[in-house]
Amino acid sequence: MKTSEIRRRFLAHFEADGHTVVPSAPLPFDDPNLLFVNAGMVQFVPYFIGQLNAPWQRATSVQKCIRTQDIEEVGKTTRHGTFFQMNGNFSFGDYFKEHAIKMAWDLSTKSISDGGFGLDAERIWATVYLDDEEAVDIWHRVVGLPHERIVRRGKADNYWSMGIPGPCGPCSELYYDRGADYGRPGGPEVDEDRFMEFWNLVFMQNERGAGTTKDDYPILGELPAKNIDTGMGLERMSTLLQGVDNLYEIDETRPILNRAAELTGKQYGLHSGHAATESAPDDVRLRVVADHIRTALMLVGDGVTPDNEGRGYVLRRILRRAVRAMRLLGYDDPALPELLPVARDCMSASYPELASEYDRIAMIAYAEEAAFRRTLVAGTTILDTAVTKAKAAGAESLQGEQAFALHDTYGFPIDLTLEMAAEQGLAVDTEGFARLMQEQRARSKADARGKKSAHADSPAYRDLRERGVTEFTGYGELITESHVRGLVRDGESVPTAGAGEIVEVVLERTPFYAESGGQIADEGVITADDTRLRVLDVQRPVKGLIVHRVQVEEGELHAGQRVVASVDPEWRRSARQAHSGTHVVHAALRQVLGPSALQSGSYNKPGYLRLDFAWNAGLDAATRAQIEDVSNIALREDLPVDVRHMTLAQARELGALALFGETYDETVRVVDIGGAWSRELCGGTHVEHSSQVGALTIVGEASIGAGVRRLEAYVGLEALRYLATERALVTALTENLKVPAAELPERVEALVTRLRAAEKELDRLRAAAVLESAGELAAQSSDIAGTRFVAAQAPKGVTGNDLRSLALDVRARLGASPAAVLLTSEKDDGGVSFVAAVNEAGRSAGLAAGELVKVFAPVIGARGGGKPDLAQGAGGEVAKVEDGFASVRASLAGTPG
Ligand code: ALA
Repeated sequence: MKTSEIRRRFLAHFEADGHTVVPSAPLPFDDPNLLFVNAGMVQFVPYFIGQLNAPWQRATSVQKCIRTQDIEEVGKTTRHGTFFQMNGNFSFGDYFKEHAIKMAWDLSTKSISDGGFGLDAERIWATVYLDDEEAVDIWHRVVGLPHERIVRRGKADNYWSMGIPGPCGPCSELYYDRGADYGRPGGPEVDEDRFMEFWNLVFMQNERGAGTTKDDYPILGELPAKNIDTGMGLERMSTLLQGVDNLYEIDETRPILNRAAELTGKQYGLHSGHAATESAPDDVRLRVVADHIRTALMLVGDGVTPDNEGRGYVLRRILRRAVRAMRLLGYDDPALPELLPVARDCMSASYPELASEYDRIAMIAYAEEAAFRRTLVAGTTILDTAVTKAKAAGAESLQGEQAFALHDTYGFPIDLTLEMAAEQGLAVDTEGFARLMQEQRARSKADARGKKSAHADSPAYRDLRERGVTEFTGYGELITESHVRGLVRDGESVPTAGAGEIVEVVLERTPFYAESGGQIADEGVITADDTRLRVLDVQRPVKGLIVHRVQVEEGELHAGQRVVASVDPEWRRSARQAHSGTHVVHAALRQVLGPSALQSGSYNKPGYLRLDFAWNAGLDAATRAQIEDVSNIALREDLPVDVRHMTLAQARELGALALFGETYDETVRVVDIGGAWSRELCGGTHVEHSSQVGALTIVGEASIGAGVRRLEAYVGLEALRYLATERALVTALTENLKVPAAELPERVEALVTRLRAAEKELDRLRAAAVLESAGELAAQSSDIAGTRFVAAQAPKGVTGNDLRSLALDVRARLGASPAAVLLTSEKDDGGVSFVAAVNEAGRSAGLAAGELVKVFAPVIGARGGGKPDLAQGAGGEVAKVEDGFASVRASLAGTPG
């Protein structure tokens, strides 16, 4: 059975039982504690902990998940994949254990012709939490499972949580016995390869606190309701139903593996045996390729771009591991153009956007491979040098600093360094590396803390949030009367704040826009009778809670106080222009470059915007001008800006663009500019019609990473001011050069050309003038012990080349009998250039130019030397030149100077 069919049957089974089908949340989920979604229930946490009311009592989904903590195990076991899909059914205070167990059992064992998975009931085992008698009873009495196949396990195995504070509860897992070929009998406790877990039913009823290990954390209390959260591993069910050994061989990954084998000329599975038993290294590498290529596709598909930290680093690492595995398999050409399309074809039945957005995805992924190939060349040299040095010093491992530098500068994942060092027989000081990484992380965290709310998980926020959502009034008004719900300082709730203090304030309602969706926070003041607060920043540390960071300028502030919150209208007007301008530029970009030029991030503040988008080539001046023109025409057209609320599904249907990595509520806000021309999901504040943006001018466009470019623009008054500054420059130039503005480029170019020609001519004239003096200098020669000798100072600033030509010219004029020349010129930047030359007859008589220089140079305090016929040097003092000449004359005369 195909994976897409398993997924379809799963959803149909639960939909028929009153569950609402909810789409997968994007992999990069906006939860500060999670890099990626790692379970089906993640998007439902606020419902489980009672923070928000669930819109449905029952839901079902197929959630995209990433888990990378076991990345080293990929390919070595049957069960570890970095990307997988979790099919889940959820009850929010509705049904509980019995119905959950029955539903899972029915679907698993129902025959294939009846729409089930047709698993053999005799081979299914169940585990339960130690003292969960209720679950034991349901399995035995209701389902009919014999007691031998019901196993009790402890907290580490059968008490489930996300690994962080949040909802949790005892669980019951379903295992399938794959038979004697796969391992020893005795159930899941004996062999988890033979007995493969395929479904986990969590009876979500408690809330946990922070802890260190899987079973060491406190249970804080009960959840408001008893819930169900289940997770059926889609890939595991495919493994079972497709009769393959492991998840790398199912229909969604095997074609990638096959293509990799074909490209590298390897035969997969030659050294047979199941994956769990010792695998041939090449088989492991092929599985790594299959797993990682699919994961990379899904990550880029969800808007993640390669980076040196956070989510982007996970992607970078995965892509690079895949490329590296291909190289170890002997394939040195770019591999992604061969493999990624195969992954797309495997996955697009379930995720059609992978096909429609493939151009964008490919652009980013291929660019990262290209970057890595360059890195590999540079990094490998560095690594080889480090290895050679370490070996020469008799060390057995590379220092942590070296591994860190490779990681930091060349993007070498640590496991790549480990692998490559191991190939050369060296270990790596991973502890030292980890310490440096930790320090770096602490630094960047501290940086982030400087700006954002530092205590996002503080109980003070949670208490304030529990008293309800902060109502945002700022779409309709800029001044709102409100009450102070509470004050927070350093994550702690405080009753009051006095003049001069900086504190965080939560109001019941507020017109202040909290930074989000690229738009920065509003500025303004909050006032009461004698109290005045300046708003420094506004954030939403917890969903639904708006927090103002304020400085108390006058008076005192206390909880419960009545206040008036006023956004600075000028500020907001410009902020709206900038945000709408961002949408306009985005639409213009896509109109000019095509739909794959999709926004990956943005930032806007009054007067200024920037937009990051997927594209891998610079935009030429004409293209930039065209984008600017399309944008300004859209402003002139005075397009209406419409804001509507609708369901996420409706918005998708209408083709609204959503920013990657953002999660959206069931009801979303859709902002149209000119109808479908620009249609985006957006919570920001906008103008009412496009002409209110005023003007837009693009001021820059550059690469900010592989396959991502950043465009910057000014809008409104700022755009006009920018243009005015440029005009002032042009005016100054036209006045100076006395030509109309339109002729400036031509005039400047002509001036530059003329200047170059003049400089050349000047050089020529100078050289000619110098050479002209040759006759005069030759005439000054005197006879010293049978040698015709000229020693003279040429004009200042004669360059080395010219001086040499001059010396040779003078030498030629001195005739065929022994002759020598020594010329100097004071250099423009101080010191002396000098050249000595001796003719053939002179050399026969035992003279050498190099020797003359050796006599001359020390006298003036310089150095020099050369051959018998010609020698030169520089340095020394001009004032001593005549002394130098005297020494040379003396040496020619045979008298010591
Ligand atoms: N949330 C449960 C899991 O991830 C179902 O296993």
